[in-house]
Amino acid sequence: AKLGVLISGRGSNMASLIAASRADDCPYEVVLVASNVEDAAGLATAEGESIPTFAHPHRGLKRADFDALIDAELRAADVEYVALAGYMRILSPEFIQGWEGRIVNIHPSLLPLYKGLDTHQRAIEAGDAEGGCSVHIVTPELDDGPVIGQARVPILPGDTPETLAARVLIEEHRLYPAALAAYIRDHG
Ligand code: GRF
Repeated sequence: AKLGVLISGRGSNMASLIAASRADDCPYEVVLVASNVEDAAGLATAEGESIPTFAHPHRGLKRADFDALIDAELRAADVEYVALAGYMRILSPEFIQGWEGRIVNIHPSLLPLYKGLDTHQRAIEAGDAEGGCSVHIVTPELDDGPVIGQARVPILPGDTPETLAARVLIEEHRLYPAALAAYIRDHG
């Protein structure tokens, strides 16, 4: 299946999706990386992997109009599934409805805990014994759709949001390609 990846920054999860796609038995190929941030570091990484990129600032555009731009790029590339990978923009309901069941996201918490931002800080402040990450199907409600994969890590004494984020990120890079591949295998 043809996969489009949306990023806003560093793109390390995007890189892990691309790396996994090189395996012979991977059911997806990354055909486009798109961003709302013109200088997102992940765009250069994608270009280095010879993957087409598209970047356009969202500033000055209504949410639905910006999303329509992204949608047109994805459709033009014959994209079938969309992976959000550190895409720091809420998608319009119109966009999400147009890709129903075909947008996945990775979120750095054990959903349904800690939707939204500052997940690691909130987990530490709550005194949780574990943190982690979740891959879920995107629905119009933020960080709310069906979870298709999770990975857990311990929260250790002395952890800061940064040390916990680093421990979780290692798991994100394993979990995202595996959960996405399994989902695509099941859904065609
Ligand atoms: C990751 O922690 C992801 O879970 C969250 O934003 C971060 C993006 O990092 N949604 P990267 O751009 O994939 O390196």
